[in-house]
Amino acid sequence: MPEITIQIPELYDKQRRAIFTGTRYAWIEASTKAGKTFGCLVWLLVQALRCADGQNVWWVAPVGSQAQIAFDRLRKYLPRAIYRENLSEKSIAIKGAGKLWFKSADKPDSLYGEDVHAAVIDEASRVKEDAWTAVRSTLTATQGPIRIIGNVKGRSNWFYKGCRRAEQGAKGHAYAKLTAYDAVDAGIIPREEIEDAREALPEHVFRELYLAEPSDDGGNPFGMKAIDDCVAQLAPGPPVVWGWDLARSTDWTVGIALNSEGKVCEFHRFQKDWPATERAIVRLTDGVDALVDSTGVGDVLIQYLQRNGRNFEGYTFTPKSKQYLMEGLSTAIQGHKTSFPDNEIKAELDTFEYEYRRNGVKYSAPEGLHDDCVCSLALAWKHFDGLYRVKKNQPEPTTVGTLPNRGRMSKKW
Ligand SMILES: Nc1ncnc2c1ncn2[C@@H]1O[C@H](COP(=O)(O)OP(=O)(O)O)[C@@H](O)[C@H]1O
Ligand SMILES: [Mg+2]
Repeated sequence: MPEITIQIPELYDKQRRAIFTGTRYAWIEASTKAGKTFGCLVWLLVQALRCADGQNVWWVAPVGSQAQIAFDRLRKYLPRAIYRENLSEKSIAIKGAGKLWFKSADKPDSLYGEDVHAAVIDEASRVKEDAWTAVRSTLTATQGPIRIIGNVKGRSNWFYKGCRRAEQGAKGHAYAKLTAYDAVDAGIIPREEIEDAREALPEHVFRELYLAEPSDDGGNPFGMKAIDDCVAQLAPGPPVVWGWDLARSTDWTVGIALNSEGKVCEFHRFQKDWPATERAIVRLTDGVDALVDSTGVGDVLIQYLQRNGRNFEGYTFTPKSKQYLMEGLSTAIQGHKTSFPDNEIKAELDTFEYEYRRNGVKYSAPEGLHDDCVCSLALAWKHFDGLYRVKKNQPEPTTVGTLPNRGRMSKKW
């Protein structure tokens, strides 16, 4: 058999010391793009190479698509001659050594097994506690080592608590932190990218994602205290702007109006068929400027609305445009520039989350919860902060033709 040498990629100094600790457990809180996946893939490969033929090691990611990414990264790297892959079970069996399995933590029942000799839990702050319990008990029989690594996300999760126990010197546990600046020093990320992120993101979001400093807000981009501070009775009208978020298959159509102080003065939430939804929006908005979700089916609806009045403007949600919209709302809430009642609006703001994805920060409700009120409020705030302020600063209208209320005007004529 020909001899094949594989070159193990070099880790940067802090990355190597965080992961190759010599302890059975290593807990690592790290920035986004600090080389978490890369470093732990190298580590797991080394563990597999040390295994006897057919012994197992596990890679565990929060969801299947992330396990797939790690699986593909390793397959691309390894010389074809040294392993057999199984695409449906996402495994790589190295000839004469261990077998690597890439698993999803969203099915904890699949995380109990025998003969697992090492494991990595990647993106641990997004993995549920029952998956951690399963993996840990799986490793008990072999006394195999494990690396638990992730972004930080608030303080009320098993990953945060495990890191604190390790940091306080629990026996057999090591702890390390890798920030974005460590990755900059190692030449992995350009410094400008971090400075751009610092400018763009709410401060506590930046601190969690790039400096690995957990906030009290558990991944909430608005800040729990700031949300509480903005709670008030429904403010007096009249509305000066509206935001409308349209129902998809399972959620709600929500309309929120702000008064001249930027405070919520009307709130409507309903599920109706499209014709009834259109009629309700036209009637409630009553000619006032409105920014309307025009994503997907909304594109047809906005055309109908615009035939009823030129006060309707569409806003298409993309990951980037939603990020921009939510960062505007975050600034408003943190600066106490708006207020809203303690109803579904506050409940949705409380549970809203951000998450780091490869192409940016994703803002949304957690699985199974809604964010229609948050989107509607963010749309209303955008119109208030942009259009309304611009109009307010224009000179008083002197002719009938410049009446600010364009929708009503067209009805009168
Ligand atoms: N030690 C290293 N040497 C060279 N490139 C690295 C190293 N560590 C990470 N990288 C590269 O940096 C980028 C981010 O790494 P990744 O592991 O995906 O980060 P994370 O999982 O922390 O978001 C990837 O392109 C990866 O290949
Ligand atoms: Mg990663």
